[in-house]
Amino acid sequence: MISYEQLAYIVLKVNTQSLGTQTMKVAFLGTGLMGLPMAQRLLAAHVPLIAFNRTPEKLEPLKAAGAEIAAKPHQAISAADCVILMLTNAAAIYHVLLSDRSSRTVAGRTIIQMGTITPAESKEIRDAVVAAGGEYIEAPVLGSIPEAKAGELLIMVGAQSQQYHRNLNLLKNLGPEPVLVGEVGTASALKLALNQLIASLTSAFALSLGFAQRHDVDVDVFMQILRESALYAPTFDKKLQRMLDDNYANPNFPTKHLVKDTDFFIEEAKAVGLNTRSIEGVRKVLAIAMKMSFANQDYSSLFAAIKAGDH
Ligand SMILES: NC(=O)c1ccc[n+]([C@@H]2O[C@H](COP(=O)([O-])OP(=O)(O)OC[C@H]3O[C@@H](n4cnc5c(N)ncnc54)[C@H](OP(=O)(O)O)[C@@H]3O)[C@@H](O)[C@H]2O)c1
Repeated sequence: MISYEQLAYIVLKVNTQSLGTQTMKVAFLGTGLMGLPMAQRLLAAHVPLIAFNRTPEKLEPLKAAGAEIAAKPHQAISAADCVILMLTNAAAIYHVLLSDRSSRTVAGRTIIQMGTITPAESKEIRDAVVAAGGEYIEAPVLGSIPEAKAGELLIMVGAQSQQYHRNLNLLKNLGPEPVLVGEVGTASALKLALNQLIASLTSAFALSLGFAQRHDVDVDVFMQILRESALYAPTFDKKLQRMLDDNYANPNFPTKHLVKDTDFFIEEAKAVGLNTRSIEGVRKVLAIAMKMSFANQDYSSLFAAIKAGDH
C-alpha cells in the first residue's frame, strides 16, 4: 500500500521531471519587442508553445518557426499548463488574462508574469489568479532585446520557494540564473529600483555629455577620464553613439516604457516615504522627450530633451 507522502513525492518527481525535460506546454501572451525573442528561445529549446498577441501580424515569425497560434487569449490559456505574460502593464494583463472568459481558464495553471508592473499590482493580480484557481509567480527581467535573444536576461523571481524551483528549468531558457528575491511583490520592487537607475544614470550622463560638448571639451577626452573613474557605468558607452548621432530609432526599450516605469517608481517610493525629487526632475525631462515625439524611440532621447534647454 502506497502512503500519501510517497504518492505526493511521486507526483512531485514526475512534475519536476516533465519540467526538466520541458514537456509541459506554455502559452505565451504578448509577443512584442521582448515577448517575441523570448518565445522564440522557448521554441528553439523545443518547449511546446501556443502564442497569442493582440496584433496578430506580430505572431508570424513564431508561426513560421512552428508555434501554435491562438486567435483569443482564452484559447491559448486553456491549451497550456503554464502561461507566460510579457505585456505592457497591468491594464493589458487584466484585459488578456483576467477578462471573464480568460479567467475561467486559469484554474490549475501557473501564471508567470514577466513584464514590469508595480508590487501592488502584482499582488493584486496574484490574488485574482489564486481566486480563479491558478498559481501566480512574478519574474520581471533586466536586459533588453539582445539579452532576450541570447537567453541572458537577469530574471528576478517573486514566489514561494517551491514555486520558484518548479519553474526554474523553464525560466533558465530565458536567463542563466533566475534569482529568487522573495515573495510576490519583492521582485517587482527590485525591478523598479533598477529601472530608476536606468532613468537617473542616463539623464545624468546625458547632462554631463551635453555640458562637456558645449564647453568645447573633446568627447573622447571626456569619455577617457570617465571610463578610468569610479563614476563610470557601462550603460554610458552603450548609449554614447546614439546620443552623438542623435539617433534614437529602432529602440530596444522605448521612452514611453521608461516613463511608465519611472511613474511606477515615484508612486511606490512615495508610498514608502522616500524623497523622490531627484527622479521627479528626470521625469520632467522624459516628458519633454515625449513631447518631442520620442515616445516610441530609444530612451536615450533624454539627451535630445536636455539639449533642448530649460522649459
Ligand atoms: N523592451 C525592453 O527592453 C524591456 C526590458 C525589460 C522589461 N520590459 C517590460 O516588458 C514588458 C513588455 O515590453 P516590450 O518592450 O515587449 O513592449 P511592447 O513591444 O510594447 O509589447 C507589449 C505587448 O503588450 C501587448 N499589449 C499592450 N496593451 C495591450 C492590451 N490592452 N491588450 C492586449 N495586449 C496588449 C502588446 O500587444 P500589441 O502587439 O498588439 O501592441 C504587446 O504584445 C513591459 O512591461 C516593459 O516595461 C521591457
